[in-house]
Amino acid sequence: MSRILTGIKSTGIPHIGNLLGVMLPTIKNRKTSLKEVFILIADLHSFTNIKSIKNIKNNTYKIAAAWLACGLKLDKAILYRQSDIPQITELFWFLNCFFPYQRLKLSHSFKSKNNINTGLFTYPILMAADILLFDSKIVFVGKDQLQHIEITRKIAKKINNKIKNLFLIPEAKIQKTSMAIPGIDGYKMSKSRKNTIDIFSSKEKIKTQIMKIHTSSNSPFSKKNLKNEIIYNIYKLLFNKKYFCLFEKKLMEDPSFGYEKAKRKLYKHILCFFSNERKKFNFYIKNIKIIDSILEKGAQKARKIAINTINKVRSVFNLKKKVF
Ligand code: TRP
Repeated sequence: MSRILTGIKSTGIPHIGNLLGVMLPTIKNRKTSLKEVFILIADLHSFTNIKSIKNIKNNTYKIAAAWLACGLKLDKAILYRQSDIPQITELFWFLNCFFPYQRLKLSHSFKSKNNINTGLFTYPILMAADILLFDSKIVFVGKDQLQHIEITRKIAKKINNKIKNLFLIPEAKIQKTSMAIPGIDGYKMSKSRKNTIDIFSSKEKIKTQIMKIHTSSNSPFSKKNLKNEIIYNIYKLLFNKKYFCLFEKKLMEDPSFGYEKAKRKLYKHILCFFSNERKKFNFYIKNIKIIDSILEKGAQKARKIAINTINKVRSVFNLKKKVF
């Protein structure tokens, strides 16, 4: 059966970029509803930033709670924590031995940074292990992760050249919206840029973040310059067509409706739009035991498949099969 897999690093609290870019489309995708979906919380990947180690456990719960709040159905989806599947790190080692060091040095997750640790260097290989261990056919990712999928494909092909059909060659699937979710500074919304709208945090925090959305001083607003306005683009993602057109008209035609008002309106709309998700999120965070039991069940299911693959790999490398 062709499997779908996706993963989110457990750093920080999920923001609307995560929700609109990965979580909601994964859950709503018609294809995913027919297939088995593997949803990985990449807590080991978070260790590459040692400053965040003390928060990783809680952040893992937050990611899980966000998936559940967005309506993930557990009959088809397997939600699990990377660190609960030791076979991932075992496969990671084998994969490391099949990828040229010089090439990995060019990886963008590593190239432009200073002061990096070896974990960050080999980050893409750990991601390859996440993917190949589960025979994933389709991997949902943001555009920034495409290079990692390419690395995964290269490794899988290289190994398959030696050992026929050991791994399924995965394909990346970019969620259409994931390219277009601007942060409050206009760059792609990401925790590392600190330009997020944290939909699961307090109302005050959300308000502060929204009021900080960068705006230009272009006025009156012509359709042409509106297109470059961050707030306009966020509205476009969140409002239905009818409301969006009204908003557009107001900005262009009503001189008393400036960005300040537009931001207040956006704040109210976001709270209303995500009110159900926010309620459910808080419920799960207050009931960590429920999350623990969901993650444990997910890990048990995922481990079954993981053990099978790792023993296949061990056997082709002439190592003893392992009883886990
Ligand atoms: N590296 C991904 C990110 O930062 C998260 C991730 C880890 C992932 N393992 C994965 C995504 C496997 C897809 C598949 O966004």
